[in-house]
Amino acid sequence: MTAIRALNSANLNGGQKLAVKYFTVALALLGAQILFGMLAATQFVMPGFLYGVIDFSINRMVHINALVVWLLFGFIGAVYWMLEEEAGAPTVGLKLGNIIFYVFTATVLVVVAVYLLVQVGPGEMSTQWLITEGREYTEAPRWADIGIVVCVLAFFYNVAATFFKGKAAKGGISGIGGVLLLDLVALAGIYLLGMWYTTNVTLDQYWWWWVIHMWVEATWEVMVGCMMAYALMNVLGTSRKIVTTWLYLEVFMMLGSGILGIGHHYFWIGTPEYWLSIGGFFSALEPLPLVAMVVHAVYDSGVHKSRNNNHPAMGWLIAQAFGNFLGAGVWGFIHTLPQINLYTHGTQWSASHGHFAFYGAYATINIAFFYMATQKLRGDVWMSGNLFGNWKWKWAMVLLNLGMLGMIMGMLVAGFAQSQIERAIGGATWTAFFAAQEHPWFVQGMYWRLAFGWMFAAGYVLLVWDMLTIGKRETRAVQSHDDAALEAK
Ligand code: HEM
Ligand code: HEM
Ligand SMILES: [Fe+2]
Repeated sequence: MTAIRALNSANLNGGQKLAVKYFTVALALLGAQILFGMLAATQFVMPGFLYGVIDFSINRMVHINALVVWLLFGFIGAVYWMLEEEAGAPTVGLKLGNIIFYVFTATVLVVVAVYLLVQVGPGEMSTQWLITEGREYTEAPRWADIGIVVCVLAFFYNVAATFFKGKAAKGGISGIGGVLLLDLVALAGIYLLGMWYTTNVTLDQYWWWWVIHMWVEATWEVMVGCMMAYALMNVLGTSRKIVTTWLYLEVFMMLGSGILGIGHHYFWIGTPEYWLSIGGFFSALEPLPLVAMVVHAVYDSGVHKSRNNNHPAMGWLIAQAFGNFLGAGVWGFIHTLPQINLYTHGTQWSASHGHFAFYGAYATINIAFFYMATQKLRGDVWMSGNLFGNWKWKWAMVLLNLGMLGMIMGMLVAGFAQSQIERAIGGATWTAFFAAQEHPWFVQGMYWRLAFGWMFAAGYVLLVWDMLTIGKRETRAVQSHDDAALEAK
């Protein structure tokens, strides 16, 4: 009889227990994201599918809102996961943190329920307060915005108070902790810019991009930089000094290029012409920090000959390094110069890049943290070579990565058809728009997205199954970094 290790939260510190709650909701919301993405993708090829029951606009909105919320829940979870270790003190105000978790989750559920129940109606001020603000990715109505701000303030209190409490004991805030705190102020502060109301659509778009762009190309990148630094120390045994040095360098490069890089969204929305040069130039530099991040992760695992104490987590960390570089860096770069963006703007190129970047940079590293959490929940179980049942995490990873790559390529082909036929040849007329939509390359690209979507969905099911079972029948304890280092010699 092999012993069965239970998932036991007694193995965790206070902050980590709360982290697991956030991770659980995040993983469930990924499921919701996939479901609504599949509905939207089906409607792309069968426009009558569920028409009038649940419209494309709603499926799309729930799909990308679930995305934003599950990633944020993953980040919040990751911060609570690292907090006590980084701060050297137990979480201050943990009880409040727990209450806020339930309030936050309930808010999300109510917002989605309202999206589904009230799919059409007049666009009045009450709509904005109660149903939706209509700004892509941040569609949540105003009441929820305010609720979210309150939740985030409580979260920030937990984090800041814990760091300051630990600071006295440890003789200073850790590098990761300092970057994290400043980043959270920026990340949360920026959200406020997307809340104010104006009837001028250029102004509205101008500030809305402050939220979206400054999140994904500045503050979220810094967040995953902190997560990667912590993960490399824990999974691979890299020294704190090395990861902190890299972190500072990456943050400097990221903000240096990413902040003015916002100009790549100001080409065609009615903002002054100088944005063409500023946006083109600075956003073209944005891939550089992403190269640095790949070098950091790959070099460190090379130094340790990839010997690590958590193979699935390490696999997802490497996927993050490459996914971030390819999806954000390369796929972003290809359409970031105004001369090219004139043809690709708002086509399936953007969707191809959007999927690759969000998945590559953010979904992957959250999954790595889920695996780190699962390992500890099972009582620091062995997750290195010859792990019992390790086909599951490997196949989940293959299906998810291949499914995503397939969708990305399907969308890219469709985007090519649009930029050539609708824009370059047809001159962006109404007739040219339809000519592109009906072109076999576009249509086939959309079918491929759907087919690979099924593969991605299968990978998700396997991932959840693996999360629930990995390490269950394992008798060995976690491999120590010293043993791993000896083995590597
Ligand atoms: C992880 C980081 C990134 C994420 C998650 C991301 C995601 C996205 C998404 C979802 C869109 C579509 C927005 C919409 O709905 O209109 C978009 C647009 C865009 N992204 Fe990124 N992006 C990232 C990094 C980058 C980088 C580094 C570059 C440039 C080097 C870039 C260049 C662009 C450009 C030019 C557009 C506008 C596309 C258009 O005109 O339709 N992105 N991005
Ligand atoms: C089964 C898997 C999935 C399917 C079938 C799917 C399908 C779709 C569809 C049909 C759209 C609307 C595109 C449009 O309006 O032209 C969309 C948008 C989007 N999806 Fe997915 N999706 C899936 C998974 C994901 C994942 C895992 C992510 C990120 C981690 C993601 C991120 C996005 C983003 C950012 C957008 C907005 C893109 C833009 O406006 O440019 N999706 N998805
Ligand atoms: Fe951007």
